[in-house]
Amino acid sequence: MNMVLMGLPGAGKGTQAERIVAAFSVPHISTGDMFRQAVKEGTPLGLEAKSYMDQGQLVPDRVTIGIVRDRLGKDDCAEGFLLDGFPRTVPQAEALDELLKEMGRRLDHVIYIRVGEEELIKRLTGRRICRDCGATYHVVFAPPRQEGVCDRCGGELYQRDDDREETVAKRLQVNLEQTNHLLKYYESTGILRPIDGEQPIEQVTASIMTTIRGSNA
Ligand code: AP5
Ligand code: MG
Ligand code: ZN
Repeated sequence: MNMVLMGLPGAGKGTQAERIVAAFSVPHISTGDMFRQAVKEGTPLGLEAKSYMDQGQLVPDRVTIGIVRDRLGKDDCAEGFLLDGFPRTVPQAEALDELLKEMGRRLDHVIYIRVGEEELIKRLTGRRICRDCGATYHVVFAPPRQEGVCDRCGGELYQRDDDREETVAKRLQVNLEQTNHLLKYYESTGILRPIDGEQPIEQVTASIMTTIRGSNA
């Protein structure tokens, strides 16, 4: 099962990815998470990525394609994978097709979680993340039992640097444009699966599961 999860910032990619990979036993590969990990470790990749992320800009294709190429070559991807937030540009999509072709594989599903801009802003500005285990919460839509504390591990919750209001607007603008090009790219392939993302979290998961299981890829 080789899958891509697409959606604008805040659409619920990370939230849904966690549930999908649990059901299909494939690795969750989020380029955003990989960049944040590199930033945390202070690697050269992290330093480069941070300068773009903090401004709501995309990291250059050359860098992003490189890390995905390395990651998909790992053993745990042999039976499939779920890419979250990659590809995000047409050159990335072309590079992914090329890479999979080299591996004798192809994409089965491109899931697109559709959410309107107004809702995205609410989701992003209210998001909180656990410093220790990475679990995602929302102050209104998915609050922890105790404010500021992770339900799962008791870790401290924080707000992502790029979830400040100024950066959120820029991220949406940058991603909107690229997403439209990408949707056109995948429209003709027959593997694009649009999902209504403006439903409660559980219902979005159910829609994705039904769509994946119902389409004979
Ligand atoms: P990345 O980390 O991927 O950020 P993003 O695309 O902006 O998406 P988010 O992670 O913000 O949102 P999400 O869709 O995962 O939503 P979530 O589930 O958390 O990338 C960060 C940066 O890295 C980019 O800006 C770029 O600089 C760089 N980068 C990454 N990939 C790249 C690439 N391919 N090329 C170039 N650069 C790249 O949910 C959001 C909130 O909403 C949460 O609080 C959640 O609890 C809540 N929520 C979720 N679902 C629902 C629901 N159904 N109802 C109500 N609330 C909900
Ligand atoms: Mg995410
Ligand atoms: Zn935690």
